[in-house]
Amino acid sequence: MQSSSPTTQDDAKRLVGERVAEWIEDGMVLGLGTGSTAAMAIQALGRRIAEEHISVSGIPTSFAAERLAQRHHIPVVNLDDIEEIDLAFDGADEVDPNLNLIKGRGAAHTREKIVASQARRLVILVDETKMVDQLGTRMPLPVEIVPLAVGPVMRVIESLGGRPELRMAARKEGPVVSDQGLWVIDATFDGISDLARVNDTLLGTPGVLDHGLFLDMTTDVLLGKSDGSVEHLQR
Ligand code: A5P
Repeated sequence: MQSSSPTTQDDAKRLVGERVAEWIEDGMVLGLGTGSTAAMAIQALGRRIAEEHISVSGIPTSFAAERLAQRHHIPVVNLDDIEEIDLAFDGADEVDPNLNLIKGRGAAHTREKIVASQARRLVILVDETKMVDQLGTRMPLPVEIVPLAVGPVMRVIESLGGRPELRMAARKEGPVVSDQGLWVIDATFDGISDLARVNDTLLGTPGVLDHGLFLDMTTDVLLGKSDGSVEHLQR
């Protein structure tokens, strides 16, 4: 789609949200992502439900996504109720050329990864600022942890070449507390060259629930561009 006026980052997010909403068919079970871009898709889906009366159900990836889904009259189900998710849509913080991701700026990456793992298609919605040559060059890698393990996990992150920092809340004293009641360490790297090593080491560390690397999970990326077009990348 071409546009004559300059496209802002918000326009790009809205365009990709509207595009994935067009892909949704009557009867689908959906994964409902978290963050400002996924919110655009939930809103666009809500409009289709209101105008076209399509019937879908959704599994939210956070309390925030659940509240938004309810506001837009998207029936919410849980993973016990379904065998498979037809399509999950979500945002991302970084996307590399192999469509691997860093997620979790909103601390929702653990639930996002569980939902994505049950989806036949994982459609990632981003604007151009999220595309990187190598993961970990722009955004830190979030790691969700049991509070008791904060020191040992920080030392493991340092051994992997990362600089760990406990994520602190903005409008509360103390750390950010995830939807699971746990803490998040942000690990800053100067690029992550060995994704498998970081993935395996963190997942093998006691006290780590999950981290924000999504490897080999994405099937599609909808990339909102500054010229007003949407590019569809597939793996
Ligand atoms: C939530 O924890 C994240 O994984 C988000 O999906 C990610 O940060 C993208 O959010 P935006 O669409 O708001 O950039």
